[in-house]
Amino acid sequence: MTIAAVLTAAGSGSRLGHALPKAVVPVAGVPLVVHAARALLAARTADGASVTQLVVTAPAAHLDTVAALVGEVVDEAAADVRLDVVGGGRTRQESVAAGLAELTDDVDVVLVHDAARPFAPPALVARVVEAVRSGHAAVVPGLPVVDTIKRVGAGDGTGRPVLETVPRGDLVAVQTPQGFARDVLERAHAVGSGRGADETTAASDDAGLVEATGVRVWVVPGDERAAKVTTARDLMVAQALTTGAPA
Ligand code: CTP
Ligand code: MG
Repeated sequence: MTIAAVLTAAGSGSRLGHALPKAVVPVAGVPLVVHAARALLAARTADGASVTQLVVTAPAAHLDTVAALVGEVVDEAAADVRLDVVGGGRTRQESVAAGLAELTDDVDVVLVHDAARPFAPPALVARVVEAVRSGHAAVVPGLPVVDTIKRVGAGDGTGRPVLETVPRGDLVAVQTPQGFARDVLERAHAVGSGRGADETTAASDDAGLVEATGVRVWVVPGDERAAKVTTARDLMVAQALTTGAPA
């Protein structure tokens, strides 16, 4: 088994509203992309397998910065890791596709992870890899949904009508890293590439593309620490949890 990870870090972070692209915004003085890369490279399966190729998607204007930052993480890692840094696409889906194009021939398991989930613990990364290795071609971490979820219809200017309450016991909120047999993920991206150019049609995760090809996706237990940093509030929470101090 040869494991690669595509680390998506090419987004602008518009909802975060920071002057810097989200992936290079620091928490505890360390950029999000560095936290995420460290977790990916620290993960070990029960038999000692680890990520040996790391492909990072970066904003075009920040390729050198991201390459230098993640290069230090790779240098710190005990294992021999190949690093590639590529410019991102217009959407996350296109960025992942650009990352997949860099995989070396020997890779057979691919993780896709968001720099926006900087504190996904190495044990979660390993759990996903183990599930792929056990025979599931597509694996996502998921947590139970805590809110009551309602489907709504078109609004009338004051609000939107509830159409139904979706039974919550059947729902999970999905995280990254997501893990795949390489051939399954590459095929899903090839089949779904037409959706990728536009945020309104692009897949928001890779498992969604795999589902669309008819391959079964499996959920393993997620981890609260893999929460996504989307808003300024999320960044403050991450900072407080990491340092005990407000951002
Ligand atoms: N991403 C990417 N390429 C894009 C868009 C997003 O690599 N064209 C990455 C982001 O860097 C992030 C992950 O995909 O790590 C999840 O995306 P999201 O949380 O939406 O980040 P942004 O797109 O940067 O944020 P926003 O949507 O608020 O602009
Ligand atoms: Mg986005």
